[in-house]
Amino acid sequence: MTDTRAFERMELEGWSNPSIAQGYADGFARATQAVARHLSDAVMADANTRALDLCTGHGVVAVELLQRKASVIGVDFSPAMIALAQAAAPGVTFVQGDAMALEFADASFDAVTIGFGVPHFPDPYRGLVEAARVLKPGGRIAFSVWQGRGSDGAIGWLFDAVERFGDPAVTLPEGPDAHLLADASVAHTMLSDAGFIDAKSEVLATELAVSEPERLFDAFDRGAVRAASLLSGQTEARREIIRAELAERVRSDAVRHGAEYRVPVPSVITSAIRN
Ligand SMILES: C[S@@+](CC[C@H](N)C(=O)[O-])C[C@H]1O[C@@H](n2cnc3c(N)ncnc32)[C@H](O)[C@@H]1O
Repeated sequence: MTDTRAFERMELEGWSNPSIAQGYADGFARATQAVARHLSDAVMADANTRALDLCTGHGVVAVELLQRKASVIGVDFSPAMIALAQAAAPGVTFVQGDAMALEFADASFDAVTIGFGVPHFPDPYRGLVEAARVLKPGGRIAFSVWQGRGSDGAIGWLFDAVERFGDPAVTLPEGPDAHLLADASVAHTMLSDAGFIDAKSEVLATELAVSEPERLFDAFDRGAVRAASLLSGQTEARREIIRAELAERVRSDAVRHGAEYRVPVPSVITSAIRN
């Protein structure tokens, strides 16, 4: 069995850094807001919904659920993220906790949302089993992940640039593939094993907004954990080559919109029903 303790430490320390928390909230805002709407649609949130927003982060999904009059509890293990979420959604109860071992009773929620949290779990299956445990039968789960390596968008470009220009000796602590559940067949099998039925996945053409092409590098370097660790381990010269490569992709593939560049970063939303 894989020892994921170093991975778990990296994730917790990374997301607990206030500057990374703010960097993510700002750098990925355009995509996360769009996805929050889709997640809330997928769980059919309304005034009768008791919703649990796991990996709530800066509260972007919690805000959307609240706007639909759901009663919401947000959970995150990062105090820095909880502080941002509390400022964004004063009507929500936020609890510091680990999505791998939830403090809530069995069958106590109608909906579980997980916006871009599953890729950070040391054991995604265990996370889905916990979500199934706290959901009532017939309750709904919806989670989002980014399309990763090989995808035509910012994250695919990043991996491509790191593979081509990064130092292969810079590695990350062993953990699950961050983009594993972007594959619908893997996600649906895991959901079925965890106690869900009727799984569906949809690819969304989400985007990041950057003020200059060179800023795409900063979105990952200052607002992520795994990607930032891969980048921070590179020499300054290699970092500059990767920055220039990403900027080139923005110039050729992003759409200019007023003062900003809209950069494709496709995401996948998967939803299912608790059996
Ligand atoms: C990429 S952010 C996503 C934030 C937000 N949900 C969104 O849709 O943009 C991932 C969040 O998951 C949290 N997280 C990662 N692993 C966690 C775990 N095991 N338990 C609780 N929170 C976790 C991090 O602290 C971070 O706030």
